[in-house]
Amino acid sequence: MTNDRYLTFALGKGRLANKTLELFEEIGITCEEMKDKNSRKLIFVNEDLKLRFFLAKGPDVPTYVEYGAADIGVVGRDTIVEENRNVYEVLDLGFGKCRMCVCGPASAKELLQHHERIRVASKYPNIAKDYFYNKKHQTVDIIKLNGSVELGPLVELSDVIVDIVETGSTLRENGLEVLEEICPLSARMIVNPVSMQMESGRIRELVAKLRTKLEA
Ligand code: PRP
Repeated sequence: MTNDRYLTFALGKGRLANKTLELFEEIGITCEEMKDKNSRKLIFVNEDLKLRFFLAKGPDVPTYVEYGAADIGVVGRDTIVEENRNVYEVLDLGFGKCRMCVCGPASAKELLQHHERIRVASKYPNIAKDYFYNKKHQTVDIIKLNGSVELGPLVELSDVIVDIVETGSTLRENGLEVLEEICPLSARMIVNPVSMQMESGRIRELVAKLRTKLEA
């Protein structure tokens, strides 16, 4: 798998990056430098395999990959759909499974059924817009939030939210529920289109190894 050029990976910070590195280890790709929790380094290198890794905020991962600053990225499908960048999605890594849903108090069900002009709070305004405008043909007002989106209906900022549901406990603990499901989500591997051409051999080999491991 050696080559003169480094293959660069952008990994979404946090749990996804840790899971990705565990999976990579299983196919013999390690990056010892990354295990030092005290390190303030931003870029980690495996000289033998000519690989570089860096951690980035999830929504920035597709940006690094589109511009070719990273050849490969790993990030949630929610971010890939929301950012809508020019990247190839090549592999479902199977972890980080959750659902993108419309959620709110049970009383909001009726507002959805009657296609009322409602307020929708979300960290994912593009996904929310696409769902309501293109799939449901319902005109809504979308309010962008950056986190703790469940607050929206609780403080009457919005009627419903479009957000990720994993275990459902945040909803339950706040008297909210899933009203409609938009799509399933999980961690995906994305590739820069030029890298896919130029480094086709190495990338295909990597994807094949990961796929075999995931299917095992
Ligand atoms: C995510 C998501 C929900 C919660 C869902 O938030 O936005 O709030 O997790 O998980 P659950 O169904 O298991 O309760 P995150 O923790 O990423 O923080 P955020 O609210 O700041 O986006």
